Amino acid sequence: MRKKIVAGNWKMNTNVDEGKKLSQEICEMIKKKPLKTIYGSPGVILFPPFVHIIEIAKIIKDVEGVFVGAQNCYSELSGAYTGEISAPMIKSAGATHVLIGHSERRKLFNESNKMLAAKTSFAIENGLNVVFCCGESLEERENEIHFEVIRRQLKEGLFWLDIESFSNVIIAYEPVWAIGTGKTATPDQAQQMHAFIRELIAEKYGKELADSFSILYGGSCNAKNAQQLFEQEDVDGGLIGGASLKAGDFFKIIQSF
Ligand code: 13P
Repeated sequence: MRKKIVAGNWKMNTNVDEGKKLSQEICEMIKKKPLKTIYGSPGVILFPPFVHIIEIAKIIKDVEGVFVGAQNCYSELSGAYTGEISAPMIKSAGATHVLIGHSERRKLFNESNKMLAAKTSFAIENGLNVVFCCGESLEERENEIHFEVIRRQLKEGLFWLDIESFSNVIIAYEPVWAIGTGKTATPDQAQQMHAFIRELIAEKYGKELADSFSILYGGSCNAKNAQQLFEQEDVDGGLIGGASLKAGDFFKIIQSF
């Protein structure tokens, strides 16, 4: 059975106290309605800013099915890389997951598929699970090259992993035109792309792994539209930005399966 997952990408929002409060509120709601009764674990992954991870790891410790991750990591273990954070550091803070290849990192920080491939490798080798993001721009969709763009992002960023490493990956499809715009992909558009991604995984790693692989949708997913998106056969959950910053909205999304 494929794991159903809702992940919250807080981006560069909240200070440490606000982040602790938000994660406490989410955990309280989940404790009242434990995730196991909704779907199999892992269920929820919180991606706060780096400096929150230690505190949030303590808060989620006893809440089954809730995990904390980092929004980025560097592709070296340690050394003279001022301002960067490595996978072992993230793990030692209590995180289990890391987001790699978010479109904001690709665009604002010029992260290439090659860099993302290196980051993914280091993260997995050092015991983190990777949520690997892919997505096309509006121009690419309008030019009808969106399938090609996704194929390339996955081929160059991910598909060189061996099957064992690849089983530590979750893919998040986030069309860039849907991120933070209020313009969500239609359930059909999401389903089409998720089915395509699953087909690519099957070609590369076999049907068995593809069938059990979680593919999340991200981009203006909220408490109102989550259910319709999650109902699609190949949509296994969501990577939520804005709506993950309000505990009530985020919890509604968690309950949308
Ligand atoms: P929004 O949900 O705010 O559109 O952001 C999506 C996203 O980028 C999650 O990684």
